[in-house]
Amino acid sequence: MKKLLVTGAGGFLGAAVCQAAIRRWQVFGVIRTHAPGARLQAVYRADITRRQDIFRVLNEVSPQAVIHTAALADPNACQTDPDASWRINIEGAVFLAEWCAEHTVPLAFTSSDLVFDGLHAPYRESDAVNPVNRYGEHKVIAEEQIRRIHPQAAIRRMSLMFGNAPSPRSQPLSRILKQGRSVRLFVDEFRTPLFVEAAAEGILSTLNYPGVLHLGGAERVSRYQFGMTVAAAVGASPQLIVPCFQKDVPMPAPRPSDVSFDIGLARSLGFHPPILADCFSP
Ligand SMILES: NC(=O)c1ccc[n+]([C@@H]2O[C@H](COP(=O)([O-])OP(=O)(O)OC[C@H]3O[C@@H](n4cnc5c(N)ncnc54)[C@H](OP(=O)(O)O)[C@@H]3O)[C@@H](O)[C@H]2O)c1
Repeated sequence: MKKLLVTGAGGFLGAAVCQAAIRRWQVFGVIRTHAPGARLQAVYRADITRRQDIFRVLNEVSPQAVIHTAALADPNACQTDPDASWRINIEGAVFLAEWCAEHTVPLAFTSSDLVFDGLHAPYRESDAVNPVNRYGEHKVIAEEQIRRIHPQAAIRRMSLMFGNAPSPRSQPLSRILKQGRSVRLFVDEFRTPLFVEAAAEGILSTLNYPGVLHLGGAERVSRYQFGMTVAAAVGASPQLIVPCFQKDVPMPAPRPSDVSFDIGLARSLGFHPPILADCFSP
């Protein structure tokens, strides 16, 4: 089996990528602190912002493909610590692109729906980017740098993702609702939420498709509608979902209102995400 290296292997998406890949690849993980759940070929602790560290791992593993999911993925954290965001989200990505370009190794970089301003959804790959927060700005710069260094790289813009297992950053909504806890969710923020397991498959199955590709879910919903769908699917009371507006919850990072994706291109490549109601069990 060929060797695949996954950065952020203990993260929300990275762990799902590792889990999905182990049937087809020898999977090597790069972590900072959180370990992946899946049993990988080997796991390396390395800081992607340290060129020497990540090159040492890449040279030792000598992978035939790299999926880069490590990131400072919380927009509020990026807004309050833009230097950390720059180092992790741009410089770290550049180091990986440099190594992969030099060794002619396919690279998938995970970007975001937050490269857009939210005023012209649904967004296609050819639409102009215009981020409204630091996280989005840094993803745009990283995309540009990666394209320059490694023109064949796979740039995968991901919609908001959700899953049923806890991640280092958050508890799944399905679990919160099953515990009878209530949540406030925006009625004026629209996304095309994507089941993380489908996201992992989408990245793996399109590894050799170069350039930008939008991987989003099958439905455009507000965060509130999303919550109501999850509540119905897990048998929780709809009253646990408390509607609110973006303006009710001030946050460091401005948030675009609608960054739904048009996933027509991904569909034409065989990507068929499940509908939301099919992603949860009671
Ligand atoms: N989650 C979403 O809804 C969403 C939506 C759109 C795009 N994305 C993108 O998808 C990718 C994965 O996101 P995610 O939600 O899986 O994020 P996540 O759960 O926060 O995972 C990110 C991983 O990156 C690792 N990491 C951070 N800084 C590092 C460093 N300096 N060196 C090595 N590893 C480092 C973290 O390790 P530790 O935990 O050990 O610190 C963590 O495991 C990111 O590129 C993100 O921007 C996510």
